Amino acid sequence: MTQPFLPFARPGMDEATIAAVAETLRSRWIVTGPRAAAFEKALSERFGGRSVRAMTSATAAMQLALEMLGIGAGDEIIAPAQSFFVTGNLIERSGAKAVFVDVDLRSRNLDFAQAQAAVSPKTKLLLPTHYNAPLDPAALDTFRTKNKVRILEDAALAIGSRYPDGRAVGASGDLVTFSFHPNKNMTTIEGGALVLDDAKETATVEELRFHGIRRQADGTRDVERAGTKYNFSDVSAAVGLEQLKHLDAWCARREQLAKRYFEGFANDDLITPECLPPENNPGHSWNMFTVLLPLPALGVTRKAFVDAMQKEGIGIGISYEAIHLTSLFRKKGFREGQFPNSERIARETVTLPLFPEMQDSDVERVCASVSRVLRRKAA
Ligand SMILES: Cc1ncc(COP(=O)(O)O)c(C=O)c1O
Repeated sequence: MTQPFLPFARPGMDEATIAAVAETLRSRWIVTGPRAAAFEKALSERFGGRSVRAMTSATAAMQLALEMLGIGAGDEIIAPAQSFFVTGNLIERSGAKAVFVDVDLRSRNLDFAQAQAAVSPKTKLLLPTHYNAPLDPAALDTFRTKNKVRILEDAALAIGSRYPDGRAVGASGDLVTFSFHPNKNMTTIEGGALVLDDAKETATVEELRFHGIRRQADGTRDVERAGTKYNFSDVSAAVGLEQLKHLDAWCARREQLAKRYFEGFANDDLITPECLPPENNPGHSWNMFTVLLPLPALGVTRKAFVDAMQKEGIGIGISYEAIHLTSLFRKKGFREGQFPNSERIARETVTLPLFPEMQDSDVERVCASVSRVLRRKAA
């Protein structure tokens, strides 16, 4: 009997979510309204009472954070060369200069020593990603206070992650953004959120999120700063409110499944610990299980591996390409060899299926397929 196809990501969904969406649609209040406000409040409670503004995506939230900070031409932003394209795109679109640094091979988090060495009088922002482990909160604090530089933590992958002291990622630090895309730990279909503290900055983000409109005391409206339209719908919020109820349990299940992966690869000499995320990783919410495959040594292309896995009924993701080696940044002079870990990850990484509805036997099936496909290709 052929086994069902196993995608690499799949959002959790229950009847309560479907009912909440139906109820929202029936209410006729489908765009930003009471449910969006309730969703922001629920997130704020999770983040220790900090301000939360929900938006159409994490990309939107990150863009508005840069605009709120007034970052533009003449400024520099320090960012990892290994993260999603959004990092490079938003820096470029802001007019600022991207100053890339390398990442750790296993946690894939930005190297703070390199970031510190890259600071210049023009540095306006550090833009690190919570990748295969929560970023070090002490390193974030030190960087911010020592350099008097703002930080925007890209926590798109990290909704549900916690620091060693139990606080949620997002409950501390400076500006933090999350994604609720269906591949993330919880979804609102599309959606994202910005977490911040300052009331004036929150008001600016709120204005920018909705056309730059400012309500006047006399009931008229004015625009001082050109805004855009990234407001969050009540239908998405209805999904998010239900998803939030499951988030911690889903992340706990993700952790169990990750443990099964470590067990599954423990005796596979092709998958060494160096190829895997950190195993002792408290608080990590395991949005992805990434593996570096010894493809060059086996003479196997990644495409051949992905195609063979697809034939075995297993979906494989790729996260991520190296941002400095995109055509966009090559044109600015970036080259191979500048950020070896980011480049090796870009060449060798695959993302294996990981979502809460998976069974332990699914992980065993993936590990067996990886091992079989690599050995078959190597033969
Ligand atoms: C690390 C990272 N940051 C940001 C984003 C952007 O998220 P969104 O799709 O909600 O805009 C993604 C999306 O996959 C991501 O992987």
